[in-house]
Amino acid sequence: ESTVYQAGLHYHRPPFTFKSQDWEKLAIARLSASAAGYVAGNAGSSGTYVKNLEAFKKWSMVPNRLLPSHKDEKGNPLFSDCSTRVLGEKLDFPLALAPVGVLRIFNPEGEIAVAKAAESVGVQYIMSTASSTSIEDVAAANGNGHRWYQLYWPSNEHNDITISVLNRARNAGFTALFVTLDTFALGWRPSDMDNGYNPFIHADRIGVAIGLSDPVFREHFKKKHGYDMDDATHNPAVDIEGGAVGEAAREWVSTIFSGHSHSWEDIKFLQKHWDGPIVLKGIQSVADARKAVEAGVQGIVVSNHGGRQQDGGVASLSILSKVVDAVGDKLDIFFDSGVRCGADALKAIALGAKCVLLGRPYVYGLALGGEAGVQHVLRSLCGDLIMNMHLSGYRDLSEVNRSILMRDDEL
Ligand code: FNR
Repeated sequence: ESTVYQAGLHYHRPPFTFKSQDWEKLAIARLSASAAGYVAGNAGSSGTYVKNLEAFKKWSMVPNRLLPSHKDEKGNPLFSDCSTRVLGEKLDFPLALAPVGVLRIFNPEGEIAVAKAAESVGVQYIMSTASSTSIEDVAAANGNGHRWYQLYWPSNEHNDITISVLNRARNAGFTALFVTLDTFALGWRPSDMDNGYNPFIHADRIGVAIGLSDPVFREHFKKKHGYDMDDATHNPAVDIEGGAVGEAAREWVSTIFSGHSHSWEDIKFLQKHWDGPIVLKGIQSVADARKAVEAGVQGIVVSNHGGRQQDGGVASLSILSKVVDAVGDKLDIFFDSGVRCGADALKAIALGAKCVLLGRPYVYGLALGGEAGVQHVLRSLCGDLIMNMHLSGYRDLSEVNRSILMRDDEL
């Protein structure tokens, strides 16, 4: 896919700069204080977040020289092939869009714009349970794209809702299930508290689209309250806190962020009700990675939620190679938290990740340019990755391993 790089250089009028390090400040300047605080905010003093970014700087890539590049039949150079296989699927790039909730607070097109951009660039989209668009509408926008579904797992008393959501995702063509383990309650996020902002309840309640469109959740609501959540007589208020839908929104939020953690034993329930691969997102220790293997899942995401859930944590990249050494031959290892450019992605892959998830960078693209903005971010990161590989002399990802990296303290 060298054309991504070529197109990156030549396509007309990219919506904003190619400098990935500037995307955050450009997007924040454009967003409301609440939306900016929500996307850029972190848990506590941002200690985990800062470590995530710094960890990449401890590693350097060491290129090999005079490795002749390959040619196509016309004699043109063949750029590095970034394709890979993960969870039994072929991906053009070892990248996927991390699940991010409430995307409509960044652009009115929200998840629809992201799902379309993902399909057009050929990058996998992981849809969040906290999305501001229904499962079915996202799938329609994603068309023939590849999509995975991220579950915020309702507590066990709501197993029928979980089953309903899983069925909807499967029927809409989502092939793998990513189960987020680190967010059974939202983290201590000072920026949202300072702004008095809960994007699921405020922002016109758009973060609860999946719950409000779920027939089983709707039925529960009706039984409990004795009226339908759309009943106008119970929704007279312009006040966004009020009315039946406001009540339903609060109930959905407490269903998916109940404060109750599931157990390793509970994974069996998901295995019974989901017939594709299951990936556990939020692993930060070798011990938990081993438990994931014992539980019989197909993958894990070494992730600390971009530093948004717990303060004072380890950098996600620092734990990656230890997890790979322990269980890398037993399941597919994904990585996220702190990837900001092609070199970051390549370092995570060299340390053993099969696929890297991008979080905030594409949200900034969405804020800056809607669908075209997300496309620009994806193309830029793919192009950057390809050229880094190509100039280091690697034809494909099978040649990328720890031998291309040095820790700076060894230099
Ligand atoms: C997230 N993340 C997230 N994760 C998840 O499993 N479900 C979700 O709904 C969300 N929502 C969400 C919203 C926002 C605004 C952000 C920034 C992040 C976490 C996300 O999937 C991923 O783990 C991190 O974003 C990765 O870190 P970076 O790339 O942002 O540093």
